[in-house]
Amino acid sequence: MGRHHLPFFRFKPGEDLTMQRDLQRESQSRLSRERLRPDQQRRDCPVLLSQRLVLRAPHEDDIDAIAHLANNEKIATMVSRMPHPYTATDAANFVERTKEGAIGNCVYAITKADNGAFLGCCGIENIPYEENIVEIGYWLGEPYWGHGYTTEAVQVLIDMIFRTRNEVDHVDARCRVVNERSRRVLHKCGFQFQGPGMVQSLAVGSSVSVEWYRLDRRNWMSLKSWGGQR
Ligand SMILES: CC(C)(COP(=O)(O)OP(=O)(O)OC[C@H]1O[C@@H](n2cnc3c(N)ncnc32)[C@H](O)[C@@H]1OP(=O)(O)O)[C@@H](O)C(=O)NCCC(=O)NCCS
Repeated sequence: MGRHHLPFFRFKPGEDLTMQRDLQRESQSRLSRERLRPDQQRRDCPVLLSQRLVLRAPHEDDIDAIAHLANNEKIATMVSRMPHPYTATDAANFVERTKEGAIGNCVYAITKADNGAFLGCCGIENIPYEENIVEIGYWLGEPYWGHGYTTEAVQVLIDMIFRTRNEVDHVDARCRVVNERSRRVLHKCGFQFQGPGMVQSLAVGSSVSVEWYRLDRRNWMSLKSWGGQR
């Protein structure tokens, strides 16, 4: 199997397809959608600012930090398509493929505003044939866990999605049932539990149980001042 590392869970609950079939279907679907509606596929991914963070496109200077931080079983086993061990070549491919637009819809490097340090990644993926839903995913380097950085990054990402994409009514996310930190991030961002599912995990080498969460535009609007939730 190729060392694809689209990093996030994006399967529907209950699906038990192989990763290869899913990637194939995704690429066919993207091609047909691009033929039908080329304008809608050209998405801006603006740089996003929050109190402590800058979210921007990953670039070559990030390769060493990505390779160092992503080479962590605790991260790889919590996302669907990150290889483990994770090498500098994997990181270089990741950066190159995000530049080509081959991974996700917008992929961001999460960086510290004060010193530019690379902390991790987050991103958006379209759901084939579901224009009003996007799915988000994220990972952060272990040394940076527990400071509220992911919650801050996810909130600014969601704000951008709902403010700039009028057609999007729902933002989805999935986390493994054992992933208490990620579940907590989703709760703090206003996501609500929808149901259980199974997805393939490259690093685990099998299907894993996940929980499917959703944030509706209406709920986001009533949460727009995120105060007190970090
Ligand atoms: C999940 C992850 C992104 C969280 O990043 P983070 O920056 O530490 O997240 P935050 O600090 O914003 O929030 C984490 C929350 O989990 C809580 N937490 C930490 N350890 C916990 C535990 N063992 N059980 C329950 N909650 C826990 C923290 O206290 C915090 O909540 P609080 O603000 O109410 O105190 C990070 O741990 C990670 O990258 N993990 C591996 C990859 C991954 O899981 N990606 C998500 C895939 S769905």
